[in-house]
Amino acid sequence: MSGASDAGIDGRRGAAPPAQAGAAGLAGAEWVDTFPACVAGRWQWLGSQFRVISPGGQPSATVADCGPAQAAEAVETTVRAFEDWRRSTPNERSRILRAWHDRVMAHREDIARTISREMGKPITEARGEVLYAAAYVEGYAEEARRIYGEAFVGAGSDKRHYALRAPVGPVYAITPWNFPAAMVTRKAAAALAAGCTVILKPAEQAPLTALLLARAWQEAGGPPAALQVLPARDPVPVSAAMFADRRIRKLTFTGSTEVGRLLARQSATTLKRMSLELGGHAPFLVFEDADIDAAVREVMASKFRNAGQTCVCVNRIFVHDSIADVFAQRLAAATRRLVIGDPSDDATEIGPLVDRPGLEKVAGHVEDAVRHGARVLCGGHALHGTYFEPTVLTGVTREMRIMHEETFGPVAPVSTFTTEAQAIALANDTPYGLAAYAWTRDLSRSHRVCDALDYGIVGINDGAPSCAQAPFGGVKDSGMGREGGPWGLQDYLDVKYVSVKLAAAA
Ligand code: SIN
Repeated sequence: MSGASDAGIDGRRGAAPPAQAGAAGLAGAEWVDTFPACVAGRWQWLGSQFRVISPGGQPSATVADCGPAQAAEAVETTVRAFEDWRRSTPNERSRILRAWHDRVMAHREDIARTISREMGKPITEARGEVLYAAAYVEGYAEEARRIYGEAFVGAGSDKRHYALRAPVGPVYAITPWNFPAAMVTRKAAAALAAGCTVILKPAEQAPLTALLLARAWQEAGGPPAALQVLPARDPVPVSAAMFADRRIRKLTFTGSTEVGRLLARQSATTLKRMSLELGGHAPFLVFEDADIDAAVREVMASKFRNAGQTCVCVNRIFVHDSIADVFAQRLAAATRRLVIGDPSDDATEIGPLVDRPGLEKVAGHVEDAVRHGARVLCGGHALHGTYFEPTVLTGVTREMRIMHEETFGPVAPVSTFTTEAQAIALANDTPYGLAAYAWTRDLSRSHRVCDALDYGIVGINDGAPSCAQAPFGGVKDSGMGREGGPWGLQDYLDVKYVSVKLAAAA
């Protein structure tokens, strides 16, 4: 496998950067002003660019703006590259993925700073995200060697039957802004391990990290054409080219349920395989036997991760009415202690929300809840820029918007229940089914509740279940397919049934 690209991301080799570049490059970069796209195995600066604006409102960087021409070039490239990559041995793929992991780790501080700068994640969390992202690459370097088939007994003794695994084909991946590194590697590392090639369209709010990851891939000796990254201000024309072409065999998307539905409809014309990791509305049930301080810690870990901007963040907290007041008071006390600040500061725990529409949604949920009778125990207000105060609400009821829509912000709404059956019914009263949590010391109850929760992920006494080894994904309106661990690999493999008829001995 050849790994060299003919132009560096820093423009010091190959095609010249445009006049305004001032690009510092990935290696040791403080910050890079202008980013090219990674199309057809080359770093392409393109005549058209768009600005990436940080949540603080400052322009972060300029990035090449891909359109239909780049999409068409990327499709031809990925189809050709697939013919080579699918024939690479599992050992070769494993070796390159392992080297990719090492290059990501070598650049981890640059990548973390880029995440933090482009989408406002506090730097300590961004560093954690890079480790999380690298763990997917490391995991899939190992899984690449574990693509197994089965031999099975069929109808006749004169036949031998096998179920083999074959890579699905070229993949179109659309990744979100809230995890600009981990959602890229969770998809791309699994696809590449399976022998698929990838065209990646990162979120327009946060496309820079994906380009750094592609550069690290090439440094690792990964074929440039196997992983292309097409930033685009308007994703529609790029996606349209992918949906129209039946040679792109799979769509993998992380984002909202609304957009997921639209993409699923568009994929239907060319019947692509789909993995959709969509919205969530996670409940957290706190039973009367809970260790209240431990439950508060787990709720905090889940609710305020990335300022509440993850699909698995707790969105509805249901507490047994015998402990609800004390739980809410302790949750509010811990919430008040959170450090709000500049995302580049090591002490910051809560950064800005990604953009104004995000802020307006959060503020709207709080206003609506208060109008319908909720009480604000702490927070409740927008601050400067796109910051929103970490907030705890009590007296939250079913008619409030916050109980039906994903908030994607630092707001913890608390309501109560009296029986286990009621708690389960409340938790399942949503079209979403991504993650759910419960805190109890009762072993039997924990299993009963786990069985009854209609969710893809259940955390028992654990508010942070995500890890690279685990299957991540949801049911119902939260999507389909699983990412992570061996399950994530299977999503990029087709089953090929082979039947061999044996001739009788002469
Ligand atoms: C997401 O919000 O989509 C990902 C969260 C995680 O991986 O834990």
